[in-house]
Amino acid sequence: MFKKIAVLNGDGIGPEVTRQSVKVLKAIAEQFDHEFIFTEALIGADAIDKTGSPLPSETIDICLDSDAILFGAIGHPKYDNDPSAKVRPEQGLLGLRKALQLYANIRPVTTYPTLHFLSPLKTKNIEDVDFVIFRELTGGIYFGKKELSEDGQSASDDCSYTKEEIERVSHLAFKAAQQRKKKLTLVDKANVLETSRLWRKVVQEIAPQYADVTVDYLFVDNAAMQIILNPKQFDVVLTENMFGDIISDEASVISGSLGLLPSASVGNRTALFEPIHGSYPQAAGKDIANPVGSILSAAMLLDHIGLPEEAALVRNAVTWTIENRFVTKDIDPINFYFTSTVGELVIDYINKNFFERVNNENIELRKSTII
Ligand code: IPM
Ligand code: MN
Repeated sequence: MFKKIAVLNGDGIGPEVTRQSVKVLKAIAEQFDHEFIFTEALIGADAIDKTGSPLPSETIDICLDSDAILFGAIGHPKYDNDPSAKVRPEQGLLGLRKALQLYANIRPVTTYPTLHFLSPLKTKNIEDVDFVIFRELTGGIYFGKKELSEDGQSASDDCSYTKEEIERVSHLAFKAAQQRKKKLTLVDKANVLETSRLWRKVVQEIAPQYADVTVDYLFVDNAAMQIILNPKQFDVVLTENMFGDIISDEASVISGSLGLLPSASVGNRTALFEPIHGSYPQAAGKDIANPVGSILSAAMLLDHIGLPEEAALVRNAVTWTIENRFVTKDIDPINFYFTSTVGELVIDYINKNFFERVNNENIELRKSTII
């Protein structure tokens, strides 16, 4: 198979985690005789520094001309602490989502038995948790009209949704539920917000087309509590843009580290794959960030381009590293492996080198320890 993949490294730890995914995809291409061509493009603070724009038009062109996009992370502290900044790195990602009409962001939440101890939640509550968040990604308050009064004394952000915007992501969520445990939970705030009432109405209208899927509804405040109290109840969670942003970070607590979770953003054009974590500037350039969220995003990319066997091999390789505690500092602050080493170990597994290497001093040598 021949595929063109756009690589948008972005900011902070973006480049170093994405580098591991590119290495992994190259190893997959070699093993399975595919040809993947990678083209890098600028986005975020990095793009502002180099071109003045967080989303140069060349980046959009490269993405549109590719079969899939691998995205790193976005954001830089120099903009976070400057509310008056006119140009912000995040505009790059938001602009790209809009330009490519990436209306559905799919965020699976799974757990690894060996990592239960990392979660502040009780093991019995998080064992076998397996749900997926479908977050609407190109509408709502993120993209509504924004205003700051001339005297700087008041500001507003509009939240609006059309029926069509709700329908298209809802259909994807229902279809996913049919392939899973056949339960869909709509998270909204229909007791207060008009947009949420429209979401409920549209989902109720669509539901009969998916008669095998059980639908329930939760207000977002209650959902935020349920995700912590009893996350096993969820299968597919469908929600609007901002609620999805918030509950997906919250849900990462179940897995134990924000660094583990991947996501796929899909629409009518090229799909984009990115870890859910941010740019983690404190760790940038230190080779300590967790590449697993990015590598599992690459696995979602492989599924998306029709390579499920290859995707499964990447997931198995990641699970193998985690089970053998070849993990980064966020997971084991004492005996940890570097970002690049975890990437290499995933590739060893893909190349089946691990049989020779697993008990080998080689691995031990690459372990770092603060003791
Ligand atoms: C995410 C991020 C982005 C968002 C930021 C970087 C704009 O938090 O992908 O979840 O809010 O959507
Ligand atoms: Mn977020």
